[in-house]
Amino acid sequence: MNQYDDCWLRYERVTENDRLESYRRRCRHAYVAEKAPEHGAIRDELRRALPDLLGTEPHFWQHPPTTADGFLAIGTPEDMTMIADSVPADDIAELSSGGYLIRSVTWNGLDCLVVTATTDRGLVYGTFHLLRLLNVRESIGDLEVRQDPAYENRLLNQWDTPFHRSVERGYGGESIFDWERLPDLRTRYEDYARLLASVGINGIVLNNVNTTKPARASANAAFDEFEGWQLLESRRLEDLTGLASVFRRYGIRPYLSVNFASPMLVGDLDTADPLDKDVQAWWRRKADEVYDLLPDFGGFLVKADSEGQPGPYDYGRDHVTGANAIAQALKPHGGRVWWRAFVYGSHEDRAVQAYDTFEPLDGDFADNVTVQIKNGPIDFQPREPVSPLFGALSETAIGMELQITQEYTGQGVHATYHLPMWKEVFEFDTHADGAGTPVKSLLRGDEQGIVGVGNVGEDYNWTGHYLAQANLYAFGRAAWSPDLSVETVTDEWVRQTFGADETVGDVIKDILRRSWEACIDYETGGLGLLHMMHNGEEHLENHYYPSPEEWPGYHGASEDGIGVDRTESGSGYVAQYPEPIADRYGSVERCPEELLLFFHHLPWDHELEDGTTVVQRLYDNCFAGVDEVKRLRERWHALEGRVDERRHRHVAERFDEQVSNAQRWRDALTAYFREYSGIPDERGRVRRD
Ligand code: GCU
Repeated sequence: MNQYDDCWLRYERVTENDRLESYRRRCRHAYVAEKAPEHGAIRDELRRALPDLLGTEPHFWQHPPTTADGFLAIGTPEDMTMIADSVPADDIAELSSGGYLIRSVTWNGLDCLVVTATTDRGLVYGTFHLLRLLNVRESIGDLEVRQDPAYENRLLNQWDTPFHRSVERGYGGESIFDWERLPDLRTRYEDYARLLASVGINGIVLNNVNTTKPARASANAAFDEFEGWQLLESRRLEDLTGLASVFRRYGIRPYLSVNFASPMLVGDLDTADPLDKDVQAWWRRKADEVYDLLPDFGGFLVKADSEGQPGPYDYGRDHVTGANAIAQALKPHGGRVWWRAFVYGSHEDRAVQAYDTFEPLDGDFADNVTVQIKNGPIDFQPREPVSPLFGALSETAIGMELQITQEYTGQGVHATYHLPMWKEVFEFDTHADGAGTPVKSLLRGDEQGIVGVGNVGEDYNWTGHYLAQANLYAFGRAAWSPDLSVETVTDEWVRQTFGADETVGDVIKDILRRSWEACIDYETGGLGLLHMMHNGEEHLENHYYPSPEEWPGYHGASEDGIGVDRTESGSGYVAQYPEPIADRYGSVERCPEELLLFFHHLPWDHELEDGTTVVQRLYDNCFAGVDEVKRLRERWHALEGRVDERRHRHVAERFDEQVSNAQRWRDALTAYFREYSGIPDERGRVRRD
């Protein structure tokens, strides 16, 4: 028995006869170039996939077949003349790094299938694309596929805390990296690399952004374990070389989160002042050492002056000075600093702080610094407006950080699909360059990209919840192409993961499609409120249960009303957006209802467009969210017997807990609203279940 689930790389036998015959015909022989590490990975993948899919073993050649009909050739034009002869050079030359072509060609009168690219990792992506076509039973009779990734950097951030093997905000078990046993390797590393490469992820930050214990113990004891700064120690770096070579085969570059005070923690300096010459020299020596060991190293991720981590402020310097001091060390190696914009801490409205800190620094960062910005101004809430920083940093390389793991959206228990939220963010028109400047258009180029906070762990199903695998899949696909529709990506995932049964597919797609809105309804009431979560001591309680009384500043409930005034009369946050966004959000009448209470503090009985009062809408949405989850649970139950028992039972049990937790949310929020407003639900619903 497998020790863990195959996720979407299941390669189940093709039973549709016409497809099977055509696939067999076209993949009877295979030849893969044999020069780069990636080629070995491709060959291994074909050896795994094709016999399972086709029930026959393809003939793998050691040189391009000369006489055989029906062969699959994978390589660059330099790797084999057969490709150079059959695909026009211009078609290939136009591909970006990572792009690929899959094409049916005739060569020497033979019908062949070619996967080609200008880079070896492009070949990896092309191979996975071809296998996806087989997995979803698409025709490969006459292929003409051309793909270029929209973004050069498609990075995963592991929030794994080395040595403790915990994963901050991870709900899929302990870290899959057995840190203390490195350099020993586990097969699971390779399977993880396969999953990531199959959706185009090309970089992995191996450890948590929190790399050291905060100076003051936090409320949550579990978080006082933070370590990770040690990974820059020479012996730890040496331990990473094997792991890096596993990822290298799949075109995935390693990165590390580093501590700003590393010159003191890892080195023996008595300062980490970014303007100190010895500090700068220390970073250079360390970078040289890193690149000696890890030649394809991507760079450092830094969380500085944020939530107790050290930073340039400790020395009276700003973020530019801090980031650039580290960037200069990486520069000769082509490495990059990803510098997080997740800063807050003053008594001001948290929403204004990242912009206030970084906007004045626009244009001053070194060209190998990317400022990594969370999608919203608060912190991965079920729904937030899009951060105004994206549009504001026109002279700075930026990256967008999304959370794949479900810290605030039901963790490992709730089925909450993030892709619809991410799509909304990608499409949001920042007006940075006039109308028609969506977020997705601002992240292109070699220096920019998309970053996802990962959701895997050691659990059998990797992500704690089988359906949460969809979030990892969707992240990779959206980072490859933000233009792909939610329907397309979801359909791909469902078909690869659950097979061709249309009833099953329709139900799961319905569950995924509706899950996010349902979560917003029962966890927030759907009018833009947020962060009403419990800050429990235990890892799995933290940010999971409702506790609206704990963080009143986030929702602004008072006897006279609810919501936070972020207009001119309040924190002024709205002015961080250009027109016409500022005007729209700033107006009670024009602000979209789903964000209304994020921007405005309104009387409980304020009437919305359809005449319903604010408090009544909050009640209605909280109830609607629970009703929806119950409906989705029923739909899942009806799949019994159509989905294998292991997965069916697991998700069914999770749904039971989700429904009960959603009810808890609804009851806590509605009771809170009732108490403050003194206005009962006009439909008289009180804990109806
Ligand atoms: C959130 C999260 C923390 C995390 C932080 C970050 O605040 O709750 O666990 O460390 O984000 O992104 O750095």
